[in-house]
Amino acid sequence: MEQDNRKTLFSAVQPSGILTLGNYIGAIRNWKLLMNDYRCIYALADLHTLTVKQVPAELRAHSYDLAAWYIACGIDPEKCILFVQSHVHEHAELTWVLNTITYPGELSRMTQFKDKSRSHADNVNMGLMDYPVLMASDILLYSADLVPVGADQKQHLEIARDLAIRFNGRWSDTFTVPEPYISKSGAKIMSLQDPEKKMSKSDSNVRAFISLDDDRDTIIRKFKSAVTDSGSEVRAAEDKPGITNLLTIYSCVTGKSVEEAEKEFEGQLYGQFKLAVGEAVADHLEPLKKEKDRIIKDKDYLDGVFSNGAAQAERIAGKMLSKVYRKVGLIPRKF
Ligand code: TRP
Repeated sequence: MEQDNRKTLFSAVQPSGILTLGNYIGAIRNWKLLMNDYRCIYALADLHTLTVKQVPAELRAHSYDLAAWYIACGIDPEKCILFVQSHVHEHAELTWVLNTITYPGELSRMTQFKDKSRSHADNVNMGLMDYPVLMASDILLYSADLVPVGADQKQHLEIARDLAIRFNGRWSDTFTVPEPYISKSGAKIMSLQDPEKKMSKSDSNVRAFISLDDDRDTIIRKFKSAVTDSGSEVRAAEDKPGITNLLTIYSCVTGKSVEEAEKEFEGQLYGQFKLAVGEAVADHLEPLKKEKDRIIKDKDYLDGVFSNGAAQAERIAGKMLSKVYRKVGLIPRKF
């Protein structure tokens, strides 16, 4: 096999329901670009999804859906390793070992754990607390150099780094200490109804986010009702978070720069601008949605992708887990 000197980049996403325009612009689009420069390993983190209550049939459907979207958006399973976390048992097993060097205090003070304990107060389970350790296992099994992380996952990457350093120190050099990958092109997309807040699919107001599954009319309607700012100039500025967000979106889906877009809409009313953004987003998403619809019907193809991906992932993860088991003193199975 030819030598691959590229750095390894690992990322994962939970199959927890619909994807938003924010996920697309902030993550999916970048995953595609990264494939050329790094040895990319991408997982569907379905074990993580179990930490909040799921309807089994829906979880299964979401997993296929997510994979279909990613492939439709240009993630090429021939150019990266794309797999389902639960297909590679090493993730759960390394979590067990790392649990023995993790302290409850460091997990209970995680911001996301505290937030989720509040929003899922009827189901504060050990998995929810252990979530960052499973995530550390995902990353460390593949000796990832880089992990693209949004602000909300930064603390979790810190734990992964701490655990790698702790393990290496207690036994011997085993894990690569991962670095955050700060994307140059990843824009943060804000809510259409409150541009101070991140666009989120769990927003109680469905007009605040665009689902990748929204049809053309819905997309345009949501953009028409997007909250704008005082004044009337279409210009990106700190005191114009609504217009700035719309300009960012427009720029991402058209490939034009924000400055070009500002020129294009000079002298136009907010209403005309919002309509144009809606149409541009709908135009951009249309072919992707067609492709996704085609892929999702082909379960055999998706199962094949998963099986291929799991085989490749397992080769790497299996070696790492054996090494870890050996270092901590477990006897290898001989027959
Ligand atoms: N926790 C991440 C999220 O919800 C998903 C995830 C799971 C992940 N394992 C990972 C991200 C490993 C990066 C690396 O966004």
